[in-house]
This record gives sequence, C-alpha cells and structure tokens, in this order.
Amino acid sequence: MNEVLKKIGEFGIVPVVKIDDAKDAVPLAGALAKGGLPIAEITFRTEAAEESIRKIVSAFPDILVGAGTVLSVDQARRAKDAGAKFIVSPGFNRKVVEFCMNENIPVTPGCSGPTDIEMALEYGINVVKFFPAEASGGLKTLKAISVPYGMMSFIPTGGIDTSNLAEYLSFSKILACGGSWMVKSELIEKGKFDEITQLVREAVNLVLGFSLAHIGINGDNEDESLSIAKRFTAIFGFSLKEGNSSNFAGTGIEVTKTAGPGKNGHIAIKTNNVARAVAYLRRNNVEVDMNTARYDGDSIKSVYLREEIGGFAVHLLQK
Ligand code: 3PG
Repeated sequence: MNEVLKKIGEFGIVPVVKIDDAKDAVPLAGALAKGGLPIAEITFRTEAAEESIRKIVSAFPDILVGAGTVLSVDQARRAKDAGAKFIVSPGFNRKVVEFCMNENIPVTPGCSGPTDIEMALEYGINVVKFFPAEASGGLKTLKAISVPYGMMSFIPTGGIDTSNLAEYLSFSKILACGGSWMVKSELIEKGKFDEITQLVREAVNLVLGFSLAHIGINGDNEDESLSIAKRFTAIFGFSLKEGNSSNFAGTGIEVTKTAGPGKNGHIAIKTNNVARAVAYLRRNNVEVDMNTARYDGDSIKSVYLREEIGGFAVHLLQK
C-alpha cells in the first residue's frame, strides 16, 4: 500500500477540516498535533483551503496534510502545489482521479455503492472514501458492500463521531474514519484550540482503547506456577485455567511456568489495534521490541515494549 495511505491507516482517523480564515490554519494544525493526531484533510469548501494547506506544510512539515472536497482538476492541482500529500473527493470524479494518478498523489474518491467501487477498481484504486457513511446505511451497508470487494479498504466519512468510531474501526476493511466532529468550524472560528486538542485526545483514546488485560507473575517452574495460580483461585474464587506455558487465575492474573520477561513479571495492556498502538507509541518516542512481535496472518497481535516499567515488562495485546 502507498506510504501515505499506510500512515492514514496508522492514525485511524482523518480530521476533516473547514477553515474560513487561513490565519487559523497553523494553530489548528498545532492543536491536532498536540492531541496526538498530526493529520488533517483541509476541505476546498472555502477560499482559504489552498493557503491553509501551504501554511501548515511550512509550519509543520511532519503533519500529514491532504485536501478534501476536491471537485475539479484545478483544485487538485492547487492542493498539490500547496503541498497536499493526498486528495479526497466526495464522489468519483474521473478527471480528478486521472490527474492524481498522473501526478502520483494518492486519491481516495468518494464511493457509496458497487458501481463507484468498480470504477475505482478500473483505475487500480483499492482505498476509497465511503461517503456519506451514516446516511448510506453505515457499517451494515459497508459490510455488505465489502463482501464482493475483498480487495477494497474504506475510509467511511459522514456522520461519524465518538458514538460510533470504535465500532467502525473494529471492521478490518476500514483503513480509517474521516470526520469533522473534533474540528468543528465554530471551534476553529472562536479560536478554541485547547478544546480541539481535548476532543482529538478523546478520539485517539477511542482508536487505541488501551486498558489493563492482566498482570503476569514469573513462576520458576510448572509446579510453582500452578501453586501460585491455585492460591489466587482458593482465596478469591477465580477460575483456574491451565495453559501450555502459563496458568491463569481468572482473566487478570497469569503465572508463567518459566521466568518470563520483566524483573517482577509483566503487565499486559490490551488495545483495539496493536498496529495503530505501535505507530502511536513510536510517534511518542516509546520503543517496542519487534523481535517479540506475534502475528496472525499479516496483522500484529502482540509485542513487548523495549523498556520495563517498575520492574515489569509491558506486553501490548490485541483485544
Ligand atoms: C466530508 O466532507 O467528509 C464530510 O462532510 C464530513 O462529515 P462529518 O461532518 O459528518 O464528519
């Protein structure tokens, strides 16, 4: 997959932004980055779009900036010249698509049904915007459409917010969700950038869904592991689950049969998506040890952080 689209998938969200006055562009981009989402789709719904893109690109070269609501080749060209790294259109516009393909800039045209999708396939495009997502039947429709088009990934947009984001993202054919809920025009106009940062943080937390899975106690051998696990079951009534390499007391306490990683043991943190979590951690200078990664097919299912915290190894697990 194209590197830009891959990055969009790692973010899991594309903030769809309408900027009326280009002076707001840089503070807005700063608010997104501070909230943990250094990506923006600046829509050509206002005259300020082109200048906004240019300003953000020059102030924050690391932020992934694209152009949205691109309805003509002229807009696509202006967006690209201003530094946009991807182009989004609400419908399937052959001219815009052809321009983007010739210019080698990723384009995700809006598709809401099989006919549009087949047009995209004709051009070798396998990531499209599903628009307008909720009004077109939402996840139910998208799941039905995905059946014959297994090669397609989608960026549903339109009517997505904190109430349905996690549900959309739980479907593997969804690369990311687009939406304006955290970057509403009125917040931008009123300069409420701290509020935007807060809403972005909330959205990022929903994407990642970090929570405690279990703690792992390092047992030295099988007998010790079993006796420790049984002690917890005896005291607290947790159910005992004997496994190959460890035993569980309930779901919250694991006792390994050989000393595992971590001076004191390990703490397992589950997440909605390990790949997105790894990308997020790396953006925040937290290293993972990819030698410890486990996969299910192509998708990463677990990995340890490089660091120990408080003597505990930290294991990221897919929910
Ligand atoms: C878009 O252009 O992608 C949509 O208008 C965004 O939809 P939303 O405002 O419902 O998030």
